[in-house]
Amino acid sequence: MEVIIRPNADAAADLVAWVIARELRTNPRPVLGLATGRTMEPVYARLVAMHREERLDFSACRTFNLDEYVGLSSDDPHSYRHYMNRHLFQQVNIDPANTHLPDGMAADLDAECADYERQITQAGGIDLQLLGIGQTGHLGFNEPLSAFRSRTMVRALSPVTREQNGVLFENPDLIPHRAITMGVGTILDCRRCLLLASGEDKASIVAKAVEGPITSMISATALQLHPRCTVVVDEAAAGRFKESDYYRWLFENEPKWESFRQAQNSLVT
Ligand code: GLP
Repeated sequence: MEVIIRPNADAAADLVAWVIARELRTNPRPVLGLATGRTMEPVYARLVAMHREERLDFSACRTFNLDEYVGLSSDDPHSYRHYMNRHLFQQVNIDPANTHLPDGMAADLDAECADYERQITQAGGIDLQLLGIGQTGHLGFNEPLSAFRSRTMVRALSPVTREQNGVLFENPDLIPHRAITMGVGTILDCRRCLLLASGEDKASIVAKAVEGPITSMISATALQLHPRCTVVVDEAAAGRFKESDYYRWLFENEPKWESFRQAQNSLVT
């Protein structure tokens, strides 16, 4: 795992967008894993701007989102399909047929989950998986007690998550009780993971995810087992780390981030 601390939420989102853009530019047939949530909105805004201003090309790209609420149709403004269409898919040159989210309206939800796994496998697996983190430490909707080897399945939302995400519904009681989510095992199979967290209210759970003991009570701790995982946070979300000086030193000195540092400098000069 590596941890990168950026000065503020926009700078953190810019770095994440830069990594995604590089994947799109260097991989002839990229398969992206995507995430929703307020944290991701500036990332998608940046990607849309790169598409418009720098011709960032999504035409060869296939996407798989982490999760979808059970019982919400794609035209429901609270569904993750609606979120993705609005924030990214309708604003870039991606073929809608190449965008995948689990179908929360499927008559047979277990069959839908198995089919989602099959589609990811048929696409050759996910190259780069974007991740947020909820207050319970969930990835997707892998709430406490989710097995690290779990695959795409239906999960009940914890009361904490229903409260956290309920504020996005006009009536918070109308937030669904269940969602389809990639499993922790599905996420760990992705070739690279990229977690973004911003804001002070994420500081405690991010510190547990990165520096705490590995436990299925906090599914994000599973990322400590992933061979290629980058965690990007802003200063506010970095507030509870014990080893932040070390993370800063690594980022400033690692040769692999040289091209990012140069890109940043060329923007400043
Ligand atoms: C939802 C999603 C998660 C996401 C989380 C964070 O619960 N299922 O994948 O990480 O929201 O949301 P926000 O960025 O709004 O804090």
